[in-house]
Amino acid sequence: MVAKTRPVARSVKKNTPHVQMFPMIMSNLPAVLQVEEDSFNEADTWGEKRMLCVLHRRNVIGKLVVQDGRVVGFMIYELHKSKLQLLKFAVAPAERRAGIGACMVANLVGRLSLGHRTRITLRVRETNKVAQRFFKAQGFNVVRTLPNFYGKGNACLLLEYKLAGAEAEAPMTGS
Ligand SMILES: CC(C)(COP(=O)(O)OP(=O)(O)OC[C@H]1O[C@@H](n2cnc3c(N)ncnc32)[C@H](O)[C@@H]1OP(=O)(O)O)[C@@H](O)C(=O)NCCC(=O)NCCS
Repeated sequence: MVAKTRPVARSVKKNTPHVQMFPMIMSNLPAVLQVEEDSFNEADTWGEKRMLCVLHRRNVIGKLVVQDGRVVGFMIYELHKSKLQLLKFAVAPAERRAGIGACMVANLVGRLSLGHRTRITLRVRETNKVAQRFFKAQGFNVVRTLPNFYGKGNACLLLEYKLAGAEAEAPMTGS
């Protein structure tokens, strides 16, 4: 039997912020939509209808991030057989650079285990340099560039975090 590991993402700070994470429920939606609106440009903002549609999928999980009773971030990810695929991930602008995003990644990494789900993947716009720096600081690597993914001239990078000890797997597809 393969031992399960629960590694922590690389850049969780010494003074780790005290945040709690809860499954998203309907009453959280306005706060989540506000963080989304404050965090993404129009083209990448889902809004209520799409958000609900995605959250209703059976293999999708939405997590609310709360600090001192305030919603400070959220993440939405999809469960696949061998990986977690991040669909949305945001920290409220006023709460950034305090280690909250790193805590969120650590929470996801804690859900990986050898022999089961061993990877986290996500797509990031090539122009979103902050997200690229952030995810690289958490141990993600670029595995592919899709040149016109968001329309002509608007590339996307596929980023991946792989659990230490996970054997080499088949190259990623676009999903
Ligand atoms: C990307 C994002 C989630 C980071 O959240 P955060 O809580 O600010 O991140 P942390 O404070 O945990 O940062 C951890 C490390 O990531 C890197 N990092 C984070 N923001 C950075 C920035 N603006 N510039 C450079 N490096 C940055 C740093 O190495 C940082 O460590 P440090 O503060 O000790 O230097 C946040 O900026 C965000 O919500 N952006 C808008 C939404 C988005 O682009 N989401 C990702 C695509 S779905």
